[in-house]
Amino acid sequence: MNTRPIRLVVAALVVFAASCSRGDAGTEDAALVSAARAVAQDFAKALLAELTTALQEKGPLGAVDVCREHAPGIARTAGTQAFTVRRIGTRVRNRSTNLPTDAERAILDRFGSIPADVRQKEFVPVRDDGHFAVYVPITIGAPLCLTCHGPVESIAPELRAHFAERYPEDDTVGYALSDLRGAIVVERVR
Ligand code: HEC
Repeated sequence: MNTRPIRLVVAALVVFAASCSRGDAGTEDAALVSAARAVAQDFAKALLAELTTALQEKGPLGAVDVCREHAPGIARTAGTQAFTVRRIGTRVRNRSTNLPTDAERAILDRFGSIPADVRQKEFVPVRDDGHFAVYVPITIGAPLCLTCHGPVESIAPELRAHFAERYPEDDTVGYALSDLRGAIVVERVR
């Protein structure tokens, strides 16, 4: 694997290695990471299930709000720990909430350098002065994602018109299956 993106991430972020040498803290961190990853997995599963149902029952235009409303600021608990969940995109339809910072862009670059099947198991934990987050990649893993994020010519005209009106700077079509689409960010609520 190309090591450059990994070095970038290490340079840009306080990655959570320091705590591993501190006995109990290491165990605690491992538990926190696995709880946060479970939250991300549940989020992705629930979104896919809701999108599938909405597309079947209401069609693409009726389903757009599922991807939107399911997105930011949802607090989830895993055990005794509370987390918020948000998404960032490699390219972004909703610029008010889903635009990555430079440090987050470095994480996306790293995910993007990994083949899709391996990428699925990847995650990046970040700890910085009490702030704790885990980044989990989002891949265009199902053909249904292409309904709204696929090649522009394959997107239904009424959807195109809807996106043009709601997201004038929309840049999130033209993806293919297995492309990196973004990341789920699970952050600990302090
Ligand atoms: C019915 C249309 C539709 C489908 C199907 C759909 N999306 Fe979206 N997606 C949207 C819309 C609309 C937004 C903007 C959401 C917002 O306003 O926060 C979005 C936003 C996103 C974002 C956040 C970044 C951004 O552009 O703002 C990600 C990541 C994402 N979608 C991934 C997926 C994946 C993966 C799938 C397949 C499992 C999928 N989407 C299926 C309509 C859709």
